[in-house]
Amino acid sequence: MNKQPYAEPWRIKMVEPLKTLSKEQREIKIKEAEYNLFSLDAEDVYIDLITDSGTNAMSDRQWSALMLGDESYAGSRSYLRMKQTIQELLGFEYVMPTHQGRAAENVLFSAMLKAKDIVPGNAHFDTTKGHIEFRHATAVDCTVDEVNKMDSDHPFKGNVDIDKLKACIAEHGVEKIPFMVLTVTCNTGGGQPVSMNNIQAVSEICKQHDIPLIFDSARFSENAYFIKTREDGYQDKSIKEIVKEMFSYADGMTMSAKKDAIVNIGGFIGLRSEKIYRECCTFSIMFEGYITYGGMSGRDMEAVAAGLIESTEYDYLHARISQVKYLGDEISKLGIPIVKPAGGHAIYVDAKSFFPQIPQNQYPAQALGVALYIEAGVRGVEIGTVLADRDPETRQERTPKMELLRLAIPRRVYTNNHMDVVAWGLQQIWAKREQYRGLKIKFEAPIMRHFTATFEVL
Ligand code: F0G
Repeated sequence: MNKQPYAEPWRIKMVEPLKTLSKEQREIKIKEAEYNLFSLDAEDVYIDLITDSGTNAMSDRQWSALMLGDESYAGSRSYLRMKQTIQELLGFEYVMPTHQGRAAENVLFSAMLKAKDIVPGNAHFDTTKGHIEFRHATAVDCTVDEVNKMDSDHPFKGNVDIDKLKACIAEHGVEKIPFMVLTVTCNTGGGQPVSMNNIQAVSEICKQHDIPLIFDSARFSENAYFIKTREDGYQDKSIKEIVKEMFSYADGMTMSAKKDAIVNIGGFIGLRSEKIYRECCTFSIMFEGYITYGGMSGRDMEAVAAGLIESTEYDYLHARISQVKYLGDEISKLGIPIVKPAGGHAIYVDAKSFFPQIPQNQYPAQALGVALYIEAGVRGVEIGTVLADRDPETRQERTPKMELLRLAIPRRVYTNNHMDVVAWGLQQIWAKREQYRGLKIKFEAPIMRHFTATFEVL
């Protein structure tokens, strides 16, 4: 009863003023943007939840680390500092910087993947899948079925279904599988974590078949927080111990530092195999830059090193993930359907049940995103039929099982008062939800249409 209320383990030293437009002004702006939220000027957005990637607030330690940046072309001190941090924290001997996460995928997959290969995983992220399919290989999703059950509060919905993985290996054969990707947390599945038990089981199977296990590690420390708070036997372990154990099961990793290294740009690859590292070196030099900077400046590498240490502190993670949960709870209290349990970085609103009158081919999640912008100046992102795009062969629209509006929360940027505004905005729409109509696409690009499509209101 008399428990001390909880608050963030930081105070604010610098602020960035936000502009607020009137609802009428926002109606004009979104019409001008042809109902695509990506086409808005960020200045016209009040609370920007389009992504948690690269939108984080750095700490005073990170900002001061920038001043120590060594911009030497080869072998810079900042590279050595980042490498040493990764070696100590994550345990990988070989470290290669890249300018962001998809660049790490590009370099690593160039070295490891060829046409007709099969890459099993737990709901590969779009860019991961893109880099696999671009090489005429196939990503096979082996996530547990719970991931598609919106109401199931399974604590580890990002887990791999071991039977699906075994079946995939049996069907395609080991020689077709150059590696497996395990995404922690699983973004495509709703920011849902993978348990240590599952990581262990996946690793055992991969080892049995000599399949290297690669972690897509963008949100690895958020995953470690869920292990600590939800899995038996980990309550008394520190986040750093849990992280060390998680990565002990991996042969390599790709990282988008724009998430759990709490920076605005950067990425890297971590490897145990010198052979694969050597092969990656060629592609790093071709695509990214010399192997000790790979598209990053020395100062960015300093900020990543400092950020990795901060993101693996319990108090930071508790504040971060509690805020995501706070938003989820506030929205749920209104009776608005969301994916449960709340993920590590985002809340996903179920637009199909929100707007049952809007058929999937009229993009209910896009319509909800537009409505939330108009109502409260909040920008989310559609994870539904627009994003799912057309089948490359038949050109038919793919209709995913879930039609979601993702509200991704940048790290250390907004307060819970902002979260209240987001929930309030949804509440206004919910109260008059039967009045809304769907959208029709006016223009779409042949691939990745969601970024540039234009719409009209039906
Ligand atoms: N892997 C995961 C799990 C991601 O979520 C992302 C990016 C990437 C890889 C690619 O990293 O952007 O640095 O090239 N996700 C962002 C998002 C874009 O909004 O979820 P990147």
